Amino acid sequence: MPLQLNEPLQDLAADAAAELKKHLDADAALTAAAPGRVNLIGEHIDYCDGFVLPFAIERYIVIAAAENGTREARIGTSCEGIVTLDLTKRKEPGVPKWANYLRGVIRGFQDRGHTIPGFDAYIVSSVPLGAGLSSSAALECAMATLLEGLLDTVLDTREKALLAQRAEHDFAGVPCGIMDQFASAFGKVNQLVLIDCRSGEPEMVPFENPDLTVLISNTTVHHELSDGGYAARRKNTEDGLAVIGKDSWRDVTMDEVEAAWDRLGDPVNRRSRHVVGEIARTISAAKALKENDFETLGPLMSASHDSLRDDFEVSCKELDILVDIARGIGREGGVIGARMTGGGFGGSTVTLCESDKAAAIAATLAGEYKKATGIDAQIFASRPAEGAHLL
Ligand code: GLA
Repeated sequence: MPLQLNEPLQDLAADAAAELKKHLDADAALTAAAPGRVNLIGEHIDYCDGFVLPFAIERYIVIAAAENGTREARIGTSCEGIVTLDLTKRKEPGVPKWANYLRGVIRGFQDRGHTIPGFDAYIVSSVPLGAGLSSSAALECAMATLLEGLLDTVLDTREKALLAQRAEHDFAGVPCGIMDQFASAFGKVNQLVLIDCRSGEPEMVPFENPDLTVLISNTTVHHELSDGGYAARRKNTEDGLAVIGKDSWRDVTMDEVEAAWDRLGDPVNRRSRHVVGEIARTISAAKALKENDFETLGPLMSASHDSLRDDFEVSCKELDILVDIARGIGREGGVIGARMTGGGFGGSTVTLCESDKAAAIAATLAGEYKKATGIDAQIFASRPAEGAHLL
């Protein structure tokens, strides 16, 4: 069966509660969930004042918790064991490293002046880790939502997303944009989150057509974003903007990139071409999607992938293979468009396709990918899901 199923959220919550009981002998009093995301188009331009078009997926990080009457947080996960955090101290980054996402979010609440009560918690996840589907943003947003519950307070959704992003910057060392945390926090069933990253305004775009399916294919190849590739790309875009002499990429035209080509130098000129091209593609894609104009949308997704591969250089062999297989299936086979999704350097592709052909497309993707690489891809479908919330 090439198409994996998404575990129902209630089952994940029950798993988390059972693990909390087993490992920390606590009865779950609060359960928080936050989804990963997939991005349809608008890649590596959230930190360039661009537009992005992600949605929250039916894959969640779930945290079951209970107050423990101390000033310590004891937090467990199946892959990492249990970490104990002293809540009387202002949190700083530390070891184990995976817990830095949690420390960063706790620090965000401490900086808002909250005194966090001691609690026991257990984390379970159906978001594949390191698959370019924002498991880290899901963890941050789930933790923030849990703390809201423990403190009986509700943050403005934007503030919560920005607090989670700060945890990623300051505690995980990844200078990410706002896409992942916004998608995880603002996600809604049957809605895409079109984000204007200059104004920080999300616009919900309906995505309800049952004839359309979004397939997510995890190459299972993964390179840490904190390796420096992500930060290096971001720096390239900052350098490009400085050479062009504008305050925002939104005010830069392709003619201006071309006029500055030699001054920009390689690779900054190609990075700049990606940014300006991708902003235009995303605006056109959002319009095409609203108008059900798939003949326009598909080629835009394809052009986005090519630009990420050739100009921004964040794709990899495995992602290109999956996208090429989808292109080979083509419009006749039910594929509308395919591209890499997320930060790249491994991770996943997104394939927009016709629902009645989705299972056959997934089978071809899995079979051909295995033939070409020897690797089993993990493929699942997702509709837009509810963002971070308490259960
Ligand atoms: C990662 C970052 C996002 C965004 C994407 C690329 O997922 O966390 O902010 O930059 O890469 O579009």
